[in-house]
Amino acid sequence: MSTKKKSKNPAKTAVKEKRQIAAKLTPIYIMGKRYEVPEGLTIMKAMEYAGYILIRGCGCRGGTCGACGTVYRKPGDYKLQVALACQKTVEPDMYIAQIPFFPANRALYDFAGLTAAPEEVFKLYPEMFRCVACNSCTKACPQGIEVMDAISALKQGNIAGAAQLSFDCIQCGLCTSRCFGELAQYHMFQLARRIYGARIVPRAEHLAEMVKAVNEGKYDRFLDELKRAKEDELKKLYQEREVEPMTAGEDWKPKDTRYL
Ligand code: SF4
Ligand code: SF4
Ligand code: FES
Repeated sequence: MSTKKKSKNPAKTAVKEKRQIAAKLTPIYIMGKRYEVPEGLTIMKAMEYAGYILIRGCGCRGGTCGACGTVYRKPGDYKLQVALACQKTVEPDMYIAQIPFFPANRALYDFAGLTAAPEEVFKLYPEMFRCVACNSCTKACPQGIEVMDAISALKQGNIAGAAQLSFDCIQCGLCTSRCFGELAQYHMFQLARRIYGARIVPRAEHLAEMVKAVNEGKYDRFLDELKRAKEDELKKLYQEREVEPMTAGEDWKPKDTRYL
């Protein structure tokens, strides 16, 4: 009988664990074709595991670019559901199809000629009055935006309200894909935010002051110093820089005020 001890090599153990994880496969259907993919993968990673090379419908992979809209259905359920492929993890036997682009109506306009008048958005998108207040858009939104309320705000001419409610919109188009009234909510919201930013929000005085200082050459010397610095010096400067605390108030200033 051999007295040789079992190997405790961590690398071998890691490989073994990896194989065990990979062995836990789950079936899914992509565009109607069955694949077995490791449990716990996002839809996007599962598609890549299955051999898809994503050149559309894939961007940030972090839930912020809106490129990876996906529609899916679970077995035994008639209901179609939507999600971001880079966020939603696979479930057994789910049917998946990607909608990387939604051909929604996008109005053409000359922004320079637009004002902050309440009717400005609904003049360009009169179809917004087809909204039947079903709230499907809100339920579909992966960003948790009160989409229906934002549309209601636009119908009332409340452009600022719609801009604020839709601030986190990532233009994924999933609301539109579920809309009974066939509204392109995200294009309407984008226009509202543009009008809000350019015509409604007061100009930031501190920003204007900073732009003036840059244009007058206040920072030229510092930038030249940085351009001449060696890589090690740059790394040191970066690592030792004073970082604004998370809880800093509006009046926070760094100790070194040379660059203000
Ligand atoms: S409002 Fe519509 S387009 Fe914007 S994030 Fe929500 S679902 Fe996507
Ligand atoms: S899905 Fe369309 S019709 Fe329904 S509440 Fe939203 S905008 Fe209105
Ligand atoms: S890839 Fe950007 S949101 Fe999914």
